Amino acid sequence: MEYNIALLKGDGIGPEIVDSAVRVLEKTADKFGHKFNFTPYLIGGCAIDATGKPLPQETIDGCLASDSVLLGAVGGPKWDDQPGGNRPEKALLGIRSALGLFTNLRPAQLYPALRKASPLKDEIVAEGFDIMIVRELTGGIYFGDRGYRQGKYGEEAYDTEAYSVTEIERIGKVAFETAMKRSKRVCSIDKANVLESSRLWRKTMHKLAEQYPEVEYSDMFVDNAAMQLVRDPKQFDVIVTSNMFGDILSDEASQITGSIGMLASASLGAGTRGMYEPIHGSAPDIAGQNRANPMATILSGAMMLRYSFGLSEEADAIENAVNKVLDAGHRTADLMGTDKGTPLTCTEMTEKIIEVL
Ligand code: IPM
Ligand code: MG
Repeated sequence: MEYNIALLKGDGIGPEIVDSAVRVLEKTADKFGHKFNFTPYLIGGCAIDATGKPLPQETIDGCLASDSVLLGAVGGPKWDDQPGGNRPEKALLGIRSALGLFTNLRPAQLYPALRKASPLKDEIVAEGFDIMIVRELTGGIYFGDRGYRQGKYGEEAYDTEAYSVTEIERIGKVAFETAMKRSKRVCSIDKANVLESSRLWRKTMHKLAEQYPEVEYSDMFVDNAAMQLVRDPKQFDVIVTSNMFGDILSDEASQITGSIGMLASASLGAGTRGMYEPIHGSAPDIAGQNRANPMATILSGAMMLRYSFGLSEEADAIENAVNKVLDAGHRTADLMGTDKGTPLTCTEMTEKIIEVL
């Protein structure tokens, strides 16, 4: 099969890790007889430098014309002084919205070979964990009404959290369908003891749960969830939550795997086109040094094959190659922990994975 993939390399380590993922995807295409055509577009700080805007129209059009999108990372100190509406991060929100990507899947699993890298005690992670965070991605407070106004104490700034039944139902369905293919447990996370929007969220999820009698459903307040994630992560299978809570909890979940450099994500809409990106940032401190861990982006490429192109055998091959390389003891700098020895560079790690493939 032939697919057109838009590449949004972005800033910092973005170009290095996307190049690595492209090499792995090309190897996979060779092996399985596919053809991937890659077209790069600007996003984030590099787009501001080149065009004045973090999300040029050409980038949106290019992504809309592609079968899928692979993204590195955006942002860096160079663009910190940009006004809110022109920050590199705004481009990320903008492209998600322009492509209608209301679902964000963020798997957080403990790789057995990396168990020692988890900051949690061995007795907590001995049995491992495998969590799928389903984050709502185009609604809530990140997209709500905002601005400045006169308040009780003078000028104040505000942001608004709002969710419609439609938005809650569509993300809820994704969570239940995902759970049906896994351990059939959904935990919906909200703050229904305080927020009106969370009460509607909970009520809507309860109604939806009735349509999935095989799924064991529970809800949890977000403050408790933050605690439970470090107390007993294996209690979770699928977590479904709002845009902001999902943003925060997915960073926490990544950290307990010991390696944010390993975590991939998929952003999906109603069709098959998706956007795939590592959940880590642009790491400007190590950019251009060939030290970044490319595996989260490589695994994001595998998610693209699985979710957008339906190529699960090919996706398995990439995931197995990553596992084998880790089992063989190969590590990039971020995964070294207390290990002695010389870590692999970004290109060396990429080549190890290609060799196994
Ligand atoms: C993420 C990031 C983004 C988000 C930022 C950079 C806009 O934190 O993908 O989790 O909040 O969604
Ligand atoms: Mg985040």
